[in-house]
Amino acid sequence: MNDKPEPVIAAKRAFPVKVKKGETYWWCACGRSKDQPFCDGSHEGTGFEPLAWVAPRDGTVLFCGCKHTKTPPICDNTHKTLPD
Ligand code: FES
Repeated sequence: MNDKPEPVIAAKRAFPVKVKKGETYWWCACGRSKDQPFCDGSHEGTGFEPLAWVAPRDGTVLFCGCKHTKTPPICDNTHKTLPD
């Protein structure tokens, strides 16, 4: 069976977040977290796992909210191509 589960579209936009160099951020991949764009444990039993991402530098990062980015956890504008 190769049915890949589809993530929930949490939001059709990116979440800008101020990050600190060297800190680890757990990006929600399933789209079910109530703490977007980060994991709150809601992926339990969905087949998804959060993605650990370490900030390479201080700054603001656009974390993907639609969960369909090809460059997780960063928004690549795929959200603009999703159907309404
Ligand atoms: S929010 Fe997912 S690609 Fe932009």
